[in-house]
Amino acid sequence: MSSTLGKVASIGVEVPDAAPTTLLRYCEFLLRSREAVSKKDRTPERVLGHVEDCAAALEVCPEVSVARTVCDLGSGNGLPGIVIATLLGCYRRSAGPTGRPGITLLERSARRRALLRRLCVELGLDAKVEGSDGGGTTHEVVLMRAVVPLPEVPSLAVLHMRRPGTCVVWAGNPGAEMRSAFEDACRRSGVVGEWTVPRELRSRGELVLVRTTDRDDRGQDPLGSACYR
Ligand SMILES: C[S@@+](CC[C@H](N)C(=O)[O-])C[C@H]1O[C@@H](n2cnc3c(N)ncnc32)[C@H](O)[C@@H]1O
Repeated sequence: MSSTLGKVASIGVEVPDAAPTTLLRYCEFLLRSREAVSKKDRTPERVLGHVEDCAAALEVCPEVSVARTVCDLGSGNGLPGIVIATLLGCYRRSAGPTGRPGITLLERSARRRALLRRLCVELGLDAKVEGSDGGGTTHEVVLMRAVVPLPEVPSLAVLHMRRPGTCVVWAGNPGAEMRSAFEDACRRSGVVGEWTVPRELRSRGELVLVRTTDRDDRGQDPLGSACYR
């Protein structure tokens, strides 16, 4: 854990004092949970690998650290949302000072939403847990890890993204065909994807930064008269 947190600090993120304890408790949960990570991943080293993979978003997308609204879409058992909330210091007031608004965990399964709420209370984190549509709220940064197949990501992400906004997608190691299907899907949804690999933090594959253009929410391009959709 200290090696991951050292790398996070080295990319300029001020890691909160409480983060090591919070993340260790979260790792203990992941090790105990039958469904949060696959059976073969239920070892301390591999669980730490998941944590570092999630933290990689902070390196490849500095906007995550400064965005006013961040949402983890398809949070499941809290990866990557709980890791990012911890590293950004999204603690409840009662758990200590926090300079940041909490992040939103969007999860369509009611059972997992209940689990996420319990986890956030136990870990002292300030996170809003909501169902699939998130009440129609859009976010400056959306995180999407292992939620839907890559070609389905753009159309789902744009429902939750502000303009301008960024979605960080954990893409794994896709072949040429999948990559091309994803890029076609980006074009159809009016977004652009930038493939990236972190240098400091070890990720489990490539990450893609999907960005909306800076056209506003009413479909108008502030630089011209073109209609967005
Ligand atoms: C395979 S799990 C991955 C969870 C986690 N992000 C991770 O990296 O381990 C996918 C989760 O996304 C949720 N999900 C799928 N589509 C969704 C949607 N449209 N809105 C919210 N949650 C969704 C599922 O219920 C499931 O819990």
